[in-house]
Amino acid sequence: MTRVEKDSGAARGSARHVPVMLDRCVELLEPALQSSGAVLVDATLGLAGHSRALLERCPGARLLGIDRDPQALAIAGQVLAPFGERVRLEHAVHEDIPELLRAADLGPADAVLMDLGVSSLQLDESDRGFAYSIDSPLDMRMDPAGDLTAAEVLNTYPAGDLLRILREYGEERFARRIVDAVLRERVREPFETSARLVRLLQDAIPAPARRTGGHPAKRTFQALRIEVNRELAVLRQAVPAAVSALGQGGRIVVLAYHSLEDRIVKQTLTSGAKGSTPPGLPVELPEHAPQLRLLTRGAERPGPEELDRNPRSASARLRAAERIRPAPEDRAGAAARNGRTVRTTGVPSHGPLGGDAR
Ligand SMILES: C[S@@+](CC[C@H](N)C(=O)[O-])C[C@H]1O[C@@H](n2cnc3c(N)ncnc32)[C@H](O)[C@@H]1O
Repeated sequence: MTRVEKDSGAARGSARHVPVMLDRCVELLEPALQSSGAVLVDATLGLAGHSRALLERCPGARLLGIDRDPQALAIAGQVLAPFGERVRLEHAVHEDIPELLRAADLGPADAVLMDLGVSSLQLDESDRGFAYSIDSPLDMRMDPAGDLTAAEVLNTYPAGDLLRILREYGEERFARRIVDAVLRERVREPFETSARLVRLLQDAIPAPARRTGGHPAKRTFQALRIEVNRELAVLRQAVPAAVSALGQGGRIVVLAYHSLEDRIVKQTLTSGAKGSTPPGLPVELPEHAPQLRLLTRGAERPGPEELDRNPRSASARLRAAERIRPAPEDRAGAAARNGRTVRTTGVPSHGPLGGDAR
């Protein structure tokens, strides 16, 4: 595992990191993690703030921690070292949760946490390109082994694709003006670093909108990040996969940070909480009964005290549900997925974790 020097940006990121809606996440997941050998899947491990709190509060629980960012995993490994063999870390994309559980010889999950979006580490590291306030290479890959960077998107995508990305993923009203400016500028010289893009966005967005619509770079940076990391496509697979990985009584908590993510989470959880008995049948068929019980009414938001302490929590929306019955389609899905290869890479796992502990 990579050593992280004390004064590196990574260590600073870890020190500054404040887990979002931590008490609420613990309150929701703790009841599912009381038995000895209970399995917690943290599908977005980051700097392990949530996981550490849950492992402390639930002494019998074991953790499968997943992240696509090897730098985050290296720091999380240090943070979680005191928990020894209760912890296993995987460098992977979270749409593969059921396969990762199987590969680790772990049974169904008792709790799954998904804290979406970027980590403090990714925002604060000066060479990763996520933050518009730091001039850095236009990278934005959560996994540095990924094959697409934000610079490539800006410099090579046709106008139509850039427009679609800015409109869909950034919900940017001035997408047309921005794309026109990008096309003009990239012919002159390809984009390499973020400061030039930020200047272009400041010029492209009309002054009145600049005063009221948040930082002019915010929406474009979000759109590029979502495209580079295929975030929404992955999430559409990952939330149903996470639900299907839960055992009966298992709980899932998802923290989303913009309406596009939250819509996907809401759709998956609310449709799981509805029965699917065809209309017109007088009784609910057991195989069509709801799989989930919603634990939150709508999306919960951080309170004023948290917003004060941690402004980065401002856009968080928390939804949670409990698995109330296994679904027959999950068995079919699991069988279909059995043949799939799990995309993990060389980050060491800790501890055996699997086997007969449950
Ligand atoms: C907001 S941070 C999580 C912070 C964490 N809860 C904590 O307390 O430190 C989100 C993390 O999820 C990771 N991530 C985002 N999308 C992912 C995906 N599809 N698969 C695996 N990890 C992902 C990011 O690399 C990042 O480290």
